[in-house]
Amino acid sequence: MAEFQTICRIDDLHEGLGRTFYVGEHAVALFLIAGKVYALNDTCPHMGASLGSGFVENGCVTCPWHFWRFRIADGAWADNPRLGTDSYPTRVCGNEVQVQLPGILPSPGFAGEGPGVRVLDARSAEDPHP
Ligand code: FES
Repeated sequence: MAEFQTICRIDDLHEGLGRTFYVGEHAVALFLIAGKVYALNDTCPHMGASLGSGFVENGCVTCPWHFWRFRIADGAWADNPRLGTDSYPTRVCGNEVQVQLPGILPSPGFAGEGPGVRVLDARSAEDPHP
């Protein structure tokens, strides 16, 4: 079973918004909703937009490119819940946000501080299809 890995500090997240973190080759969208942290595969299964930069409302994130909506709690596609994107277990230990990602080895320190890891602020994401 995959281990939990620290992705960021709880202060790095903002209530009602998503934010994308890169852990190795994985892009993970974290959402803070009513004080609880949720994690989805950041890459929209339609054409690859960043779900972490999507619009959050009523428990769903709307993809910024073509407006598919996914339930933040479980990644299900809101228009057809049989389909969806990956969701990952989360927990908060102290001020550390940890996510159980498949196939990723734990590394010391925060994921956002390591080499090859970058954090994309949701508001800085560029949309090639405005
Ligand atoms: S890339 Fe997300 S809906 Fe098209």
